[in-house]
Amino acid sequence: MSYKFGVIAGDGIGPEVVREGLKVLDRASKIHGFEYELKEYPWGAEHYLATGETMPSSAYDEYRLMDALLLGAIGDPRIEVGLLEREIIAGIRFTLDLFVNLRPIRCPADHVCPIKDKTAKDIDMLVVRENTEGAYSQVGGVFKKDTADEVAIAEMIYTRKGTERVIRYAFEEAMKTRRKHLTMVDKANAIRPQDLWTRTFEEVGREYPNVTTDHAYVDAACMWMIKNPEAFDVVVTTNLFGDILTDLGSVLQGGMGVAASGNIHPGQVSMFEPIHGSAPKYKGKNKANPLATILAVGMMLDHVGESVAAKDIEDTVVELVASRRIPDLSSRSGLKTDEVGDLVVQSLSSTATER
Ligand code: IPM
Ligand code: MN
Repeated sequence: MSYKFGVIAGDGIGPEVVREGLKVLDRASKIHGFEYELKEYPWGAEHYLATGETMPSSAYDEYRLMDALLLGAIGDPRIEVGLLEREIIAGIRFTLDLFVNLRPIRCPADHVCPIKDKTAKDIDMLVVRENTEGAYSQVGGVFKKDTADEVAIAEMIYTRKGTERVIRYAFEEAMKTRRKHLTMVDKANAIRPQDLWTRTFEEVGREYPNVTTDHAYVDAACMWMIKNPEAFDVVVTTNLFGDILTDLGSVLQGGMGVAASGNIHPGQVSMFEPIHGSAPKYKGKNKANPLATILAVGMMLDHVGESVAAKDIEDTVVELVASRRIPDLSSRSGLKTDEVGDLVVQSLSSTATER
């Protein structure tokens, strides 16, 4: 098979972590026998400062002909807060209708588990975050700006279609896990319109009698994720709550440096990225942890159908952390960015036979 991948390395530490991700992609293709073509895009702060352009709409015509996109990080302190993130990251999510943001939270080894009396096996969940509506709809605005009467409105929008498709996706994911358990996280007590989620969850759930379900309000879910992480298997939630819960979840898996995500529309071009940001102060220092991007490459390969290569990448990372050959998951000490990438490249499929 041959694939076409678009690459947006972006800002800050984006280019250095993407470089390692691409090294792993290259090695995986040789071991697992697939081919690919890359097209790299310059979008990000430098491109914006030089041209005034965030991302041209013609880029979407190219993306739609690809199998997947890999994104490093977007965001730069020199530029208006959130402008590039909204236009590039959220732009891709909304325009390509990538309605699932899939965020696995698996702790790779006991010694990186941050919770007292819990071990790696207690932390194994999959967050399915709605990715194209909710508080990110960008519907709203400000009125009487910079006056004492200023009014700011930001709408949360939930559609029946948007809610149902992400809930159904989560049930399908739950069918694949050993425990077949799905928790819905919302705040339908205080935000009554989220009752649409409650009703849709119940209705779709009837089609999946083999999946056990429960429910938690988002505040309680934050508490349970620390207190009883083993209670969670698959979790489905709104866009904003999923954003917040998965930063919390990243700590349970060893830190932001290992948390990967996929922005997915099943069967269509989808976008894969680490969940961390551009971390401008680490830019160019060869200190950032590339594992999140490497794991995102794994998720990207799974999406295009290279599930053996995907599993190889994940297993290799887990093994390197568990054996402490990668001693530290933070960006403050331990190995350099490129050394981590090299280790993964060397260790990939050390047990499988090359084709
Ligand atoms: C994430 C990020 C984005 C989000 C930002 C950069 C818009 O925090 O991918 O989690 O809020 O979704
Ligand atoms: Mn986030």
